[in-house]
Amino acid sequence: MKVLVVGGGGREHAIVTAVAKSTRAEKIYCAPGNAGIASLAECVPIQPMEFGKLVTFAKERKIDFTIIGMDDPLVGGIVDAFEAEGLRVFGPRKNAAILEGSKAFSKDLMKKYNIPTAAYESFTDAKEALAYLERAKLPIVLKADGLALGKGVLICNTLEEAKAGVKEIMEDKKFGNAGDTIVIEEFMTGREVSVLSFVDGNTIRLLSSAQDHKRAKDGDEGLNTGGMGTFSPSPFYTKEIDEYCKKYIYQPTVDAMKKEGRPFVGVIFFGLMLTEEGPKVLEYNARLGDPEAQVVLPRMKNDILDVMEACVDGTLHTVDLQFEENAAVCVVLASQGYPVSYEKGFVIEGLEHFEGREDYFCFHAGTKQNEDGQIVTNGGRVLGITALGNDLMQARTKAYDATEWVKFANKYMRHDIGNAI
Ligand code: AMP
Ligand code: GLY
Repeated sequence: MKVLVVGGGGREHAIVTAVAKSTRAEKIYCAPGNAGIASLAECVPIQPMEFGKLVTFAKERKIDFTIIGMDDPLVGGIVDAFEAEGLRVFGPRKNAAILEGSKAFSKDLMKKYNIPTAAYESFTDAKEALAYLERAKLPIVLKADGLALGKGVLICNTLEEAKAGVKEIMEDKKFGNAGDTIVIEEFMTGREVSVLSFVDGNTIRLLSSAQDHKRAKDGDEGLNTGGMGTFSPSPFYTKEIDEYCKKYIYQPTVDAMKKEGRPFVGVIFFGLMLTEEGPKVLEYNARLGDPEAQVVLPRMKNDILDVMEACVDGTLHTVDLQFEENAAVCVVLASQGYPVSYEKGFVIEGLEHFEGREDYFCFHAGTKQNEDGQIVTNGGRVLGITALGNDLMQARTKAYDATEWVKFANKYMRHDIGNAI
């Protein structure tokens, strides 16, 4: 089977690695891919939002199955574009990807179907939003409605900050059209857990839990990033919590989307907060998490193509998802200055240490090959260093050891990934 993966970050490297393990994959393409993905797949210089070019490529090369890794093309309707040409593609259609694409939509869905989440109001008028803030309890959370690279969320401790935030989002358009609508929601406290799942429109199968570290600096200080590291499973995600979420969150979300005439096929990522009142949904994403995919997929026993095809065919009820009884930790090696500003183009050394090892992975997030054939840094998040271990402690020790194997100028990482364990 010929497979095309759309995207070019650490998540897509983890997806391509899983696909490469399948005995059914004869040839893998990745658009646009990166320098690490290039060792497993043929990278194609087409950008993820170039739907027409991707569809043409898939038809010309007779691609049997396309996997969309990223949120932007999903929310933009890439699955509809592929399906219109009779191509098999994994991911939600545009009318279902809205679960991630609009926070106002997802909050309204949760309210309508009694799925536990923070109390909220949404506004399209800045004046009304400001008036609401005068009576709201602090701290308060502001969210730009649309996609904003995980940066459209502001947690405000004072009324002044909140007012300035509404101005930034709705008037200054800091996140572009994503800020035409704003969601203002209650501030919650508790531990965060990411639970990813495969969905075929009716049936949902859960992947092992993970926890992300979103802040840039040790001790959860600094700015929010795309994710500085992650571990799986989360020891805080107990059997009781799992049972509660299955009953009140997971299947109810799938059923709600179906009832709304928006059957969801693909991955639903539940961002949960474990509050004193029980687990609540922080957000939904319509694709695998990055870096969560880098710890969850290496622990999955199933052939990823079998599972994804079952989603597309509506036969997921026949699939039993299985995970190794081990643990994984991923430490992101970033460029100094991420997520604000950073230099690129530094040569990366030591990548050969990962070759031929089964319990260490070096997932490339922002890398490319330069004219001299060297692999150089090409983004804020450069590499995701993942190690498997018998338990989280061992996986963490191994992952941090492996971060020393790799050298590049301006290398930056957090030193406390998984420390809360
Ligand atoms: P989101 O993109 O909605 O997941 O938000 C990004 C991050 O902001 C989350 O991972 C939380 O750390 C934080 N956050 C979002 N909503 C809330 C909330 N209602 N209460 C407290 N923290 C929140
Ligand atoms: N790591 C969070 C995300 O992928 O959205």
